[in-house]
Amino acid sequence: MASVYHRLLSDEKPANSRDDLESDVSDPIEPPSSSSKKRAMLRFAGIAAFALSLMANAYFVGLHSKSSVLACDDRGPDPVWGVTEPLYSPAQSVVKYERRVFDKLGVRTPYHTPYDDATDKLWEDLYDMGIQKITKDQAALLPNWTEPIPGDESHYVVSLNVFHQLHCLNFVRMALYPDRYGPVQQFGPPILEGDTVPFDHTDHCINIIREGITCNADITPDVWQWDEKRHMAFPHFDSVHDCRNWDAIADWARDRKITERWDSHTRVGHEHQHF
Ligand SMILES: *[C@@H]1O[C@H](CO)[C@@H](O)[C@H](O)[C@H]1NC(C)=O
Repeated sequence: MASVYHRLLSDEKPANSRDDLESDVSDPIEPPSSSSKKRAMLRFAGIAAFALSLMANAYFVGLHSKSSVLACDDRGPDPVWGVTEPLYSPAQSVVKYERRVFDKLGVRTPYHTPYDDATDKLWEDLYDMGIQKITKDQAALLPNWTEPIPGDESHYVVSLNVFHQLHCLNFVRMALYPDRYGPVQQFGPPILEGDTVPFDHTDHCINIIREGITCNADITPDVWQWDEKRHMAFPHFDSVHDCRNWDAIADWARDRKITERWDSHTRVGHEHQHF
């Protein structure tokens, strides 16, 4: 358990920083200028809505299958660390698996349109966990280093990536409905030094979701069954999945939420090993 704390990169702003998580809804940049722009947006919304509802289903029930965990033995040695064990997560002890049937195509859940305040609350509750604190011993086991909390140096900060993915999915969801949510604050100053291209929040979020989906790669087969009415074999998405129990992971995060102020602008010294 006595791992050294490995420093791998020095001044990178974590992708899921507090700023990012809190910039869901925002000041309008400019209202949709013409009706053609609006029509284009609505057309895009229509096409994307189907794909998004599938993604939403997939995300809020979790994409992690037991088999992907068991398959860890099949991996080659990590080129950096030379080990084959799964990477450490401080939340791994609460992970338990359960069978879950995904929603039938066409079934409308409380996460679907039409959106109202209750829908928004449901979506926000999926990832509104703040930032978590873990012990120094746990932090020492992380493959990537993180910072201690100023004034409470025996604890370190983390946030689980699944909540950032959900924040991003909600961001894209709202971006598709400017009539309700207004134009989302899509662009910010460039993230990388010397880059002239402004940071595009929607673009970032879509990429995060892409990485999450391909990383967790749910290999549950969806099936095609004969449909008497349509006289054709029809795809079904209400197959049974092995899922990580969501409540256990959400509770883990809520129980460790930093409730006192975390001053992210104060740097606390700690032992880092440079590689
Ligand atoms: C995390 O660790 C990996 C593997 O060593 C490295 O490639 C990556 O840049 C690290 N990221 C951060 C933020 O430390």
